[in-house]
Amino acid sequence: MQEKRADKLKNENVPWTKKYFPKRISEVCGQDDALKALSNFISKFGRGKARAAILYGPSGTGKTAAVYAIAADLGFEVLEVNASDFRGSDEIRAVVGNASRQASLFGRQKLIFVDEVDGIAGSEDRGGIQALAKVIAETRFPIVMTAGFKQDPKEVHWDSKFTSIKKGAVLIRFGKLETESIYRILSKISKREGIKVSDDSLRKLARHAWGDARAAINDLETFALDSKNPDEFIDALGERNKEEPMASALVKVFKTVNPKIAASAFNNVAEDPDMQFLWVEENIPREYRDSLDLYRAYDELSRADVFRGRIKNRQYWGYLRTIELMITAGIAIAKDRKYDSPADYREPKRLLEIWITNAKYIKRKSIAHKFAKKTHCSSAEATQLLPYLKVIFKKNKKQAGLIAETLELDDEEVEWLEK
Ligand SMILES: Nc1ncnc2c1ncn2[C@@H]1O[C@H](COP(=O)(O)OP(=O)(O)OP(=O)(O)O)[C@@H](O)[C@H]1O
Ligand SMILES: [Mg+2]
Repeated sequence: MQEKRADKLKNENVPWTKKYFPKRISEVCGQDDALKALSNFISKFGRGKARAAILYGPSGTGKTAAVYAIAADLGFEVLEVNASDFRGSDEIRAVVGNASRQASLFGRQKLIFVDEVDGIAGSEDRGGIQALAKVIAETRFPIVMTAGFKQDPKEVHWDSKFTSIKKGAVLIRFGKLETESIYRILSKISKREGIKVSDDSLRKLARHAWGDARAAINDLETFALDSKNPDEFIDALGERNKEEPMASALVKVFKTVNPKIAASAFNNVAEDPDMQFLWVEENIPREYRDSLDLYRAYDELSRADVFRGRIKNRQYWGYLRTIELMITAGIAIAKDRKYDSPADYREPKRLLEIWITNAKYIKRKSIAHKFAKKTHCSSAEATQLLPYLKVIFKKNKKQAGLIAETLELDDEEVEWLEK
């Protein structure tokens, strides 16, 4: 086994992201808090309340790597499973159950790893998610899941399907990596590969990756393979990646009262509209001090949120531009005058918490929406009827069943009505 692996690594065809995948905690750069939190969760499992951990954050920041590295250092065997595998889950439950009984007697401890659980939450596979939630409730092994927030309009952090699996889970955030951390990763690799490349070039590559180590390593590999003089190539990179970090794009929203300037603020950012919204929301109180400015900014934001709801419910993507204007130009002109304070904007940190609160709200909306569609009334009218539906679902199972079938409610929606 060991030999085979070593052979494989010698193989030129292995991409560097695999070849240099961290094997020990010490090889994971940055992310100290996250690493500590995850090590804690795994090593103290069983003593605390948490049954599972969800690692979340942008792509290429070491979520998957951290799980394997920590498992290796703590002596845990990683049992990697797909969220959809839990469907018709007897088999997995059996594995989890059996293994957990034996673990303390023989052999190594296990941890269950569900990578990219958001992929499945975004798809239609509710069965998998629900089964996974059950396993989490019963497990005697630590369960670790990862969720990457990708640039997908069907963003997972607004997705209610996810709620059930985060019950009793510790949320561990992986931020974008700092340029210096990425530089260290690149520098190590180029030394090992014997690439002649200047520190300046490596720093430039690191900066261009916007916190994504995978992207940086891939870039380095491409440049090293394609050219005898990577420095030249990297120097020409200047125009290639025009992405702008949110923190600097926000300056155009907050430090101007000119709607035209503000309107184009998010033209070059990588974040999707949901993330842009959260960034604006997080930073309004950091910028606007005057209470009237604050009031108007939040008012604008809540109107944008209404449109966001329409996109979710009706898939009417035409509202995207409207929302963008509201959260850029609308927020910019919400203030009477510019503030002199230095621009100091931060990433929305309560991402997951916001998403969780929203998830509850979304369920109510989705039921009302289905109801409205079947009965040809408006969503607002349907929402007002929901309390009556709730009574039926509590008191009359038979009728509730019929309604659920007619409206094509899913299990979580039924559960919500029964509560
Ligand atoms: N913090 C880090 N330290 C060292 N290497 C890293 C780090 N983060 C990422 N890498 C490198 O980048 C590649 C991708 O890392 P990883 O698979 O852990 O990212 P991820 O956060 O799970 O991303 P995704 O959300 O896309 O799954 C790996 O090859 C790894 O070598
Ligand atoms: Mg991953």
